[in-house]
Amino acid sequence: PLVSMNEFLPQAKEGKYAVGQFNMNNLEFAQAITEAAMELNSPIIFGVSEGALKYMGIEYTVALAEAAAKQSGLPIALHLDHGSSFEVAMKCIRAGFSSVMFDGSHHSFEDNIRLTKEVVRAAHAMGVSVEGELGTIGGTEDDISVDEKNASLAKPEEAIRFYEETKVDALAIAVGTAHGMYAGEPNIHFDIIEEVVKAIPASVVLHGGSGVPDEMIRKAVQAGVGKINVNTENQVAATQAIRDVLNADGKVYDPRKYLTPARKAMVEVVKSKIQLFGSVGKA
Ligand code: G3H
Ligand code: ZN
Repeated sequence: PLVSMNEFLPQAKEGKYAVGQFNMNNLEFAQAITEAAMELNSPIIFGVSEGALKYMGIEYTVALAEAAAKQSGLPIALHLDHGSSFEVAMKCIRAGFSSVMFDGSHHSFEDNIRLTKEVVRAAHAMGVSVEGELGTIGGTEDDISVDEKNASLAKPEEAIRFYEETKVDALAIAVGTAHGMYAGEPNIHFDIIEEVVKAIPASVVLHGGSGVPDEMIRKAVQAGVGKINVNTENQVAATQAIRDVLNADGKVYDPRKYLTPARKAMVEVVKSKIQLFGSVGKA
């Protein structure tokens, strides 16, 4: 069965490694992420954005995740990514999600606390873990777009108050990464990560993991990040593999002929991230 993130995030924080959230966008993503995790015996989180939820349908989404958990025997959490309302979070929990993110970062600090608290109260009553967000993460993911100029870093003292009032299980803090691939290199504020990791028992989450140089990810893990989200890098790898097949052969019509290489490319991306995050053998 699917498990809440509390089945593995506390151990990750304690052991100074991070568990990967890989976004699931269709069957091939679910299969690739699961295959990589099985090969390396790692816990994993399927992240599902509201856009992906609309694309796949909630029934298919839950069925795919449950099949992955059953087939692999691994601790897998099915997690709503950047949930925008109490209603969406509850809909997901009712359908079988084991974890939800409520992203109230575009609200005022006080409203973010109040709204996140409501989600935590309901989710915890059903054994579901909750991730909150502080500061605003730049870049684009599905229909959520934040101009880099308007992205703002999380403040450690706000993170402490946010945790104390909401009791979230995981907290995404804006520390300089952005959604999507980078034009240049991100400027990650490792000091903010360290300070928040020490100050609260919840796991600190790094969003926008795609395209961040390996060395910076290693430093973020050393600073104590316990969960790292990756989406775009899998999308890019899958699409490139499909493009290569179609460019090489104009007569292909069987989707399996290009989806198989796409899936393989994603297995490689996910395996390299799991190794980088340090969660090999932690299932
Ligand atoms: O919430 C999902 C992630 O933050 C994904 O970011 O597409 O830059 O890897 P990414
Ligand atoms: Zn994100």
